[in-house]
Amino acid sequence: MKTVVITGSARGFGYAMLEFFLKKDYNVVVCDINKEELEKAKKNLEKIESKGKVLSYAVDVTNEEQISKMIEDILKKGNTIDIWVNNAGVNQPMKAIWELDSKVINRLIDIDLKGTIICSKCIMPIMLNQKSGAIYNVEGYGSNNATMLGLSIYGTAKRAVTYFTEALAKESKETGNIVKIGKITPGIMITNFIGTSMGDGEKIELDQKTKNVYNILGDKPETIAEFMVDKMIYNTKNNAKFTWLTTTRASFRFIKALFGKKNNYFDK
Ligand SMILES: NC(=O)c1ccc[n+]([C@@H]2O[C@H](COP(=O)([O-])OP(=O)(O)OC[C@H]3O[C@@H](n4cnc5c(N)ncnc54)[C@H](O)[C@@H]3O)[C@@H](O)[C@H]2O)c1
Repeated sequence: MKTVVITGSARGFGYAMLEFFLKKDYNVVVCDINKEELEKAKKNLEKIESKGKVLSYAVDVTNEEQISKMIEDILKKGNTIDIWVNNAGVNQPMKAIWELDSKVINRLIDIDLKGTIICSKCIMPIMLNQKSGAIYNVEGYGSNNATMLGLSIYGTAKRAVTYFTEALAKESKETGNIVKIGKITPGIMITNFIGTSMGDGEKIELDQKTKNVYNILGDKPETIAEFMVDKMIYNTKNNAKFTWLTTTRASFRFIKALFGKKNNYFDK
C-alpha cells in the first residue's frame, strides 16, 4: 500500500488532500506543528472508511531533526514513502516590509521556504534509494512574480519555492527522473490562512474589495484538494505543474459574477 506525507496537514488544504488520499486507500501521514489541530485531524481521518492507515506526528518543518526522525519512524513501521507534499505555510501580517518585525520575517522564510527545502533534502535520498517517489511543493501568491502591498515577504518565499522546485526537478532529471517533482498551484482557498497571519497569530482584516475577489475566485479547500489528489496519483512526469485557478477558470468566474453568481464566504 502506498503512503503519502503532507506537511501542515492538520487543517485546511493539507487535511483536505489527506481525506481524498485515504479514500483512495493510501496510508496517510498527518503532520503539523499545531498539536491540538493534529489530534482532531487524526480522529477525523480515522473515521473515514479506507484500507489505508493513519499515522500522525507533531513536527515543525523548520526542524531537520524532527523531520528525519519522522521519516525514520514511518519507514521502520514497514512503509514506503511514495508521495511527499510540502504544504505547511503561513501568511504574513498585511504590512509593508519595513513595518514588519524581523522575527516575523525570519520565521516566515523559515517555514514557507526553508521548510520546503529541508523536507525535500530529507526525503529525496530515501526516494532515490527506493527507486520511486514524488515530491510536490505548494505555490502561492508571488510564485508567478506578482507583487502586492502587504504580501511581499510571503511572495518572496513563494517565488523562491517555485525556483527551488524547478531546480530540484532539474537535479532529479540528472538522476534519471526517478523522483517526480512538481508544483501545486491552488489559487484562493477559504481557510484559516486568509484571515490569520503566521499560522495562529494576528487576525488579518480583509477589506471589502478583497472579500469580493475571494467570493468570486475562492474555493473551499476540499474542491481544490480533490482535483490535486487525482493529478498527483496519476502523474508520470517530472517537473509537473498542476494549476486550479487557470486564466480561463478565473475569466469564467468573473463573467458568472456579472450575473450575480458568486459565493458569500464572509457574511455567514
Ligand atoms: N489559502 C489560500 O488562499 C492559499 C493560496 C495559495 C497557496 N496557499 C498555500 O497552501 C498551503 C496550505 O495553506 P492553508 O490555506 O491550508 O492554510 P492553513 O493555515 O489552514 O494550514 C496550514 C497548516 O500548516 C501548519 N504549519 C504552520 N507552520 C508549520 C510548521 N512550522 N511546521 C509544520 N506545520 C506548520 C499549520 O499549523 C496549519 O495546520 C500553504 O503553503 C499556503 O501558503 C494557500
